[in-house]
Amino acid sequence: MATPKSGLYRLAMADDSDMAPPYWAYPWAGGTVLAHYLFDHPETVTDKHVVDLGTGSGLVAIVAMKCGASRVLAVDIDAKAIVAAQLNAQANNVMIETRLGDITGDSPPAVDVLLAGDIFYDEALAEHVLPFLQRCSTAGIDVLIGDPGRAPLPSGSLVRIADYSVPDFGGGIRNMAANSAVYRLS
Ligand SMILES: C[S@@+](CC[C@H](N)C(=O)[O-])C[C@H]1O[C@@H](n2cnc3c(N)ncnc32)[C@H](O)[C@@H]1O
Repeated sequence: MATPKSGLYRLAMADDSDMAPPYWAYPWAGGTVLAHYLFDHPETVTDKHVVDLGTGSGLVAIVAMKCGASRVLAVDIDAKAIVAAQLNAQANNVMIETRLGDITGDSPPAVDVLLAGDIFYDEALAEHVLPFLQRCSTAGIDVLIGDPGRAPLPSGSLVRIADYSVPDFGGGIRNMAANSAVYRLS
């Protein structure tokens, strides 16, 4: 995890081939609620093939493996996130598969469960990702989304299945995000 003195942001931005902010250096509220949900309901992923879309640090992918998933593919468009997820998986003694790139234009993957932690943080991204998640759900994939109630979340298409109080990114440890929840795409 990054801290204010870690210099991580400066380090990440020093590489001008990649100006993406280090989203992989924090457990986001959306991923954190999914992690709580999986620990409370491990049967959601036990013996299942799982995709973690927008893996960031790998938090959700790692918890899915800890909860007994047979395979987890962690996907992100940020090369540094892929490296962070692999390092964090090693540090937590689990094996995850990773893919760098945007799979949202592809056919639904051959998996049982798709987990998306805090992927609706931006309006354009939400519009980009939602049709893919809908295709996945129509194909029979169990699509679960963790989110702290960010504005672009398409609440109308979602069934809220669990609530958790968790810290949100940038809010400090005492700042619990209101409306943090796990949703199922219906
Ligand atoms: C807010 S972070 C959440 C990270 C992690 N899921 C968590 O909750 O801690 C969102 C992540 O989604 C990634 N992302 C953005 N667009 C994406 C896309 N089209 N496909 C895959 N990952 C994407 C970003 O690079 C970033 O790592």
